[in-house]
Amino acid sequence: MKLISIVGARPQIIKAAALSRIIRQKYSNVITEIIVHTGQHYDENMSKVFFKELEIPLPKYNLNIGSAIHGKQTARMILGLEEVLMKEKPDYVVLFGDTNSTLAGAISASKLQVSIVHVEAGLRSYNKKMPEEINRILCDHVSTFLFAPNKKAVTNLEKEGFDTSHRSNFSIDQPGIFNVGDIMFDNFLYYSQMPFNSIQCKKKLQNEYILATIHRDHNTDNAENLRNIFKALLYIANQFSIDIKIPLHPRTMKCMSENLPQALLRKIDNSIYIQKLPPVSFMEMIELEKNAKLIITDSGGVQKEAYFFNKPCIILRKETEWTEILETGMALLCGADYRKIVDAYGVYDEINTRNFPKIFGDGNTAELICDILIKNKKKEKLVNHN
Ligand code: UD1
Ligand code: UDP
Repeated sequence: MKLISIVGARPQIIKAAALSRIIRQKYSNVITEIIVHTGQHYDENMSKVFFKELEIPLPKYNLNIGSAIHGKQTARMILGLEEVLMKEKPDYVVLFGDTNSTLAGAISASKLQVSIVHVEAGLRSYNKKMPEEINRILCDHVSTFLFAPNKKAVTNLEKEGFDTSHRSNFSIDQPGIFNVGDIMFDNFLYYSQMPFNSIQCKKKLQNEYILATIHRDHNTDNAENLRNIFKALLYIANQFSIDIKIPLHPRTMKCMSENLPQALLRKIDNSIYIQKLPPVSFMEMIELEKNAKLIITDSGGVQKEAYFFNKPCIILRKETEWTEILETGMALLCGADYRKIVDAYGVYDEINTRNFPKIFGDGNTAELICDILIKNKKKEKLVNHN
């Protein structure tokens, strides 16, 4: 059975690591995986570092598409992917999450009638102004296997008219929907137990600190939102004398210099508490998450990792796809609202009761996905044979 996994952006490379690892460990006699990188993310610390550190096989194809406005970027990816798919003729195309690389993969594969496997299907923010919401809806609706990370995602698909009861003869018209848990939880369990020997990182982590990441276009490209977020971070850091470590996405780095007033930029640079970092590797990131007092983020993945590590999370968004986390009370939606962010810090600084029930599956998502695909292929062969 031949799979093509399409990756492009940082979180997809990280998610693909879990699937590739299990294919290598358990299914190498049945599954051949080819990785295709669209090149959406291309800086060493946004792409290559993860292949090396997480031991992901190097992509057989890198389309080197790079950055561009949505339509241009997606169109270029489709052109490249179409050629690869026609040449390789895979049984399945595996798509992760909701980036433009996911959308390009969905369009290319569905038009060539290659069955799509969507990992992280059914997530919805119900905010169609988010490019990711458009990408995930479109991808789900042309997929044959929709692997949902939780019950809520299955319910979201039911609301859109998907029949979740199909258990055989899957096709784009009769897709299979499976609640298999969250593939990022597989990675969390695997990598958080590995020894991490960066003395430099350990030294950096001696003081109590908050970890923050910001990269959503709604926060970076909107000057008012970016200003409110950084003003709130600066206030919390100075008022509570607590370090804030911020690994900066390249988009944010660029937007800070374009969208923040000089005076605020100077205050950030002069603060002894604010530590701007370049994007860090995954092992460094989970070390930073593990030891943080609290996490402030607009990232989907980092929200969940905060939860995996039992850390309260201030979410810099007005809505989230991961509503189960909100229901536990261990995360608060604050958008880019200065007052809400500062108040949320006060709430989590005070409370001692922490409640993180297990809601992301058993950490065997990649294995469940492979088992379902293999079983399906066997059935297809039997039907064709008869
Ligand atoms: C993309 C995804 C987003 C995901 C994020 C993960 C879409 C629409 N968005 O957002 O869902 O959460 O990746 O990190 O697909 N840049 C660099 N070097 C790089 C990559 C990007 O400098 O290696 C800069 C460029 O200025 C680029 C900007 O970041 O224009 C945005 O990159 P892009 O891939 O378009 O979107 P992200 O914000 O990274
Ligand atoms: N991450 C990382 N280094 C960083 C920031 C994030 O390795 O400097 C990891 C993080 O641990 C998580 C994933 O990247 O696994 C989340 O990606 P990102 O926040 O870019 O995108 P999103 O999840 O919002 O789509």
